[in-house]
Amino acid sequence: MFNSKKIIIVVMAILSIGWISTYAQEPAVLSEELHLSEDLRALLREEMQEIATASQAVVLSLATGDWKSIEHISEKIRASYVMERKLSASQRRELEEQLPEHFKKLDMEFHARAEKLGLAAAARDPEIVAFQYYRLVESCTVCHAAFAKTRFPGFLSNELEIHHH
Ligand code: HEC
Repeated sequence: MFNSKKIIIVVMAILSIGWISTYAQEPAVLSEELHLSEDLRALLREEMQEIATASQAVVLSLATGDWKSIEHISEKIRASYVMERKLSASQRRELEEQLPEHFKKLDMEFHARAEKLGLAAAARDPEIVAFQYYRLVESCTVCHAAFAKTRFPGFLSNELEIHHH
């Protein structure tokens, strides 16, 4: 006699392989890459480097109770609205046209979280600062997983999961 349990497991495995590969071919996944000219991409990277340096400094400031520094960092991050500075009119137009709504939304959320981090620092509450810092870093990963998978292939394996949200 056949072991029906085994058959069911095999059938389910085959079905899920088919399902995964269909998912991987879905064009919506690919369209999440940003289509930017070289100069704008260079500016974005420059901006990211600054954000990375600023956000790393939060750890030490939090550990040492240096609330003023964290407030300053929060302001710095908020002021860095996706490459607002140094843009020509045509670059600005390109950004407006090329950046997907989802990217703009994540960017706004990121800046809102940076603001909350600053407020927590102003209130001198280490626990809330730590929480808001975690939320800030989380928004780095969410945006990178959606828009920077080529740059950060570590997020590639999460493709399926992201699409379930
Ligand atoms: C709204 C989207 C978004 C958010 C939020 C975001 N990033 Fe990025 N980041 C990107 C994209 C897109 C790239 C890839 C740019 C490219 O094509 O190379 C990137 C690239 C980077 C790079 C690589 C830059 C380089 O020189 O190649 C670093 C470092 C980085 N991000 C750090 C951070 C950190 C740290 C945070 C959070 C504190 C963060 N980013 C938040 C979108 C975002």
